[in-house]
Parts: sequence; C-alpha cells; structure tokens
Amino acid sequence: MAGNTFGSIFKLTSFGESHGPALGGVVDGCPAGIFLDEATVQTELDKRRPGQGGLAVTARSEPDRIRLLSGLFDGRTTGTPIGFIIENTDQRSRDYGELVDVFRPGHGDMSYHAKYGLRDYRGGGRSSGRETVSRVAGGAVAAAFLKTLGITVQAAAVELGGIAAESANLEGAESRPFFAADDSVVQRWQERVREVAALGDTLGGIVEIRACGVPAGLGEPVFDKLDARLTAALMSVGAVKGVEVGAGFAASRMLGSENNDAMLASGFASNNAGGILAGISSGQELVLRAAIKPIPSIAIEQRTVDRFGAPRNIRVGGRHDICAIPRVVPVLAAMIRLVLADMVLLQRRMGAGT
Ligand SMILES: Cc1cc2nc3c(=O)[nH]c(=O)nc-3n(C[C@H](O)[C@H](O)[C@H](O)COP(=O)(O)O)c2cc1C
Repeated sequence: MAGNTFGSIFKLTSFGESHGPALGGVVDGCPAGIFLDEATVQTELDKRRPGQGGLAVTARSEPDRIRLLSGLFDGRTTGTPIGFIIENTDQRSRDYGELVDVFRPGHGDMSYHAKYGLRDYRGGGRSSGRETVSRVAGGAVAAAFLKTLGITVQAAAVELGGIAAESANLEGAESRPFFAADDSVVQRWQERVREVAALGDTLGGIVEIRACGVPAGLGEPVFDKLDARLTAALMSVGAVKGVEVGAGFAASRMLGSENNDAMLASGFASNNAGGILAGISSGQELVLRAAIKPIPSIAIEQRTVDRFGAPRNIRVGGRHDICAIPRVVPVLAAMIRLVLADMVLLQRRMGAGT
C-alpha cells in the first residue's frame, strides 16, 4: 500500500493497524542536534488519548506509550532516522465480528474492499482513526525542530455539532474540555454530546489551527505552494471534509476592497489571507480551519449492503467516538508542524539562503 510516507525532506513514514500488535513510524530528515526525548513526544500523544479534553467522547482506553528506538544520543537527535513504536493494548476484535461481510455507511469498508479485494474489518485497519497516533508522534519531532526557529502551532475546536464558540482563543485551549476555543461554549457542547450519544448518533465540528513565528518566504511555486501543502496535510486525516485558509469561503462573498489585507509601514492591517500570498508565507500568522464530519459508526439502524451486494441493515456496535473532536485537534496541529518543518528545510535548500 503506497501513500504511507509524508514530506519531501522532513519525512514521516507510518505503519500499523488498529488491531495489529503495534503502530509506529520513522521520521527521516530531522536535522541533528535537536533536543528531544521520549517524555516530550509522550506529552503530545497524551493529548490525543481517549478521555482527554474533558468529556468521554469514546469508551476506549488506549495508553499509547511511545518507545523511541533510534536517532537519539544524549537527549539530542543525531540526524539519523528516528524510529518509534506504540503498542496496541486495548483492542476488542470481537466488537467487529458482524462487520466481516457488511459495509458500514460513511466508513472506508466498501472502498477498501473495492480497492484491495479484502480488508481488515477489525476497527477499519489503516482507515481507523487510530492511525493518527503516528502522525502525532512525528509532529512532536517536528515541533522540537520548529521550536529552535521560534515557530509554534496551536489548535482548538471552534465549533461542535453546529454550535460555534463565541471567540477563537487558541491560547489555553489545551486546558479546556474539547480543546474548546472558548470557555463559555463548553457546557452547551457537553449537553449536545450527551443528547446525541443517547440517540446512538454522532457529531462533527470545526477545528482552527494557527502557526506563529513563521518567517516570510516559505512555500514553493507552483505545485508546492504552502497553502496547497498545508491543506493537503489536513485533508489526509480521516473525517476531514473541508479546509479553509484565512477568510476561506467567506472571501468569496467579500468585495476585493474588503478582502485585501492593506499593507502599512507597521505591517498588515488585517489577515484575510491567513498568512499566505501566492502560496508563499507573508510573515503573518498562518490561520487554517478544518471541517470534521460526524463519526460514521453509529448505533442507529441504517441500510447498507454486504460484500456480495445483498441488502442488509446495520447498527454499529463497539466502542466508537461520538465526535472526532477533541481527539483530532492534536492530530491536525501535528500535520501542520510536519509541513512547516519540511517547508523550512526546502527553503534552506531552494530559497534565497535565509
Ligand atoms: C482521531 C479520530 C478518531 C476517529 N474515531 C472514529 C471512531 O471511533 N469510529 C469511526 O467509525 N470513525 C472514527 N473516525 C473517522 C474515520 O477514521 C473516518 O471517517 C474513516 O476513515 C472514513 O474516512 P473519511 O471520513 O475521510 O471518508 C475517527 C477519525 C479520527 C481522525
């Protein structure tokens, strides 16, 4: 199966299925001399674990203990491949027995079967949200490199179940339930999750990601534009159905005079561009938003077919998330970090020597 390696210089290759013995990956291309240890990577993984972000949106308990296997000496990267492994310890394959032949609407069962002629029905294999654990580990390595350059990435949930946060305060989101962008919305989100979970249904939401300290000049014309690389990275995460940069879709309803960010001697007067002009960073904060669909595995009865094309009804059991928020929030931040680490190294190779 191709498509498991991400990046052109700073690269992450990931492996593993949700019901195999382990997931893991290799980060290659990370410069030598970056301070990094297992505890730092573990801190990022802990943010993605079930039960984080306040409310139980999943019934699974995955300790996600990372082991760094190579590429470090005396607490610093050596410039050689950084291998890591995370063992699976909370699988319950019996939960998936009824999915052997039947395709879940909204999940990858039908399309994986069409592509490969067989599939790992236990938890969805590579189409499971569990695969994102390797992205978070790789993103933690990227974060350690970006830190040396003063680049930081933050992410928060700005909408859940159609209820928008009143403000997008990404600072402090990590200590709020759901990684919410705003304290005042949390209770309404909790109530909505309880209501919908009681019906056996699921919810979607919107996540905002911002990157500070990004220098002007990152991004390669024309196919490796910074916005093209960042949005592809977010779209590669399961359940992400749309991505906006800056004003995004709202820009299509503005006048040019409203959308343009005026340039003053002191800097830009606004940031509708989301920090990217012509695919190259402008030095402003990068601003992106990702739309997350509701979790496809629902306990409500739905019409489907089995692998022989015969009609079936399905009610999905097992321990599924009610909403990919908050778990997807650290995953999306990790993807942006991976892209920025790669683009910085590309700029060093291709750019004006900055
Ligand atoms: C962090 C995370 C957790 C997820 N948890 C579940 C889950 O518990 N059950 C489920 O059916 N889908 C879950 N998903 C969504 C599926 O992985 C995704 O919908 C599926 O791969 C189909 O891909 P698509 O939605 O991009 O079409 C999760 C996704 C992410 C990113």
